Amino acid sequence: MDLKSKINLEKLPRHIAVIMDGNGRWAKEQGMARVFGHRNGVKAVRETTEACTELGVEYLTLYAFSTENWKRPESEVNALMTLLVETIKNEINTLNENGVRLRAIGDISRLPEKSRNTLLQAMENTSGNTRMTLVLALNYSAKWEIVEAARKLALATKSGEIEATAIDEDAFANALSTSGIPDPELLIRTSGENRISNFLLWQIAYAELYFTPTLWPDFRREHLYQAIIDFQNRERRFGKTSEQLL
Ligand code: FPP
Repeated sequence: MDLKSKINLEKLPRHIAVIMDGNGRWAKEQGMARVFGHRNGVKAVRETTEACTELGVEYLTLYAFSTENWKRPESEVNALMTLLVETIKNEINTLNENGVRLRAIGDISRLPEKSRNTLLQAMENTSGNTRMTLVLALNYSAKWEIVEAARKLALATKSGEIEATAIDEDAFANALSTSGIPDPELLIRTSGENRISNFLLWQIAYAELYFTPTLWPDFRREHLYQAIIDFQNRERRFGKTSEQLL
């Protein structure tokens, strides 16, 4: 039996988030520069997006560039920004053909103008698509996002727009950059690192975590299917006992 047919389509996670890791190590293994790993990572992005769309996953969030990634050598940062522009331009027709809407989370005001404009145009161009939403986390970190949300709510309270007593979990979630997007139910991290690295800290409160040693450029649809099957075999209790779930 192939892996895909083992997936219960009635119990799919609505939202899958991925920390794409291991591009640099993959390139090193081949004796190549780190950028070669990022370029090959795009194949994994394409295959994961296609597989999620075909299955019926509603949201896929990819951690493409963190606020900490600016600390990398300038040449690598520039290469990543160029790759982003190229990939979006190359994939825009495929996204539209497949009904995929592009969104971004993170402080995109700090991206180079060309990258930001390409991204904004692509988001506008795909805004009518409803089959799946592909969320790119760009210049994103969870701590930045939480502080921004707190600031937004503080200002809204100060101006009298909302009462301090009205700040509850829903109000806080709505002030985050993921407002309107359901929380991820499955978080995948590749490359054998067992960390969250400042990604979606609020939103993954109840997510199932799946760590795989596969390096991101090697990640293919079968790896995704395996992660979903693993997710479907877990008991999600949300604080209840096993007996209460029966
Ligand atoms: C982590 O590997 C990967 C990144 C920081 C960038 C991910 C970018 C891509 C896959 C390419 C473009 C993506 C899109 C959405 C167009 P690493 O460099 O940290 O690897 P290492 O831990 O082995 O050094």
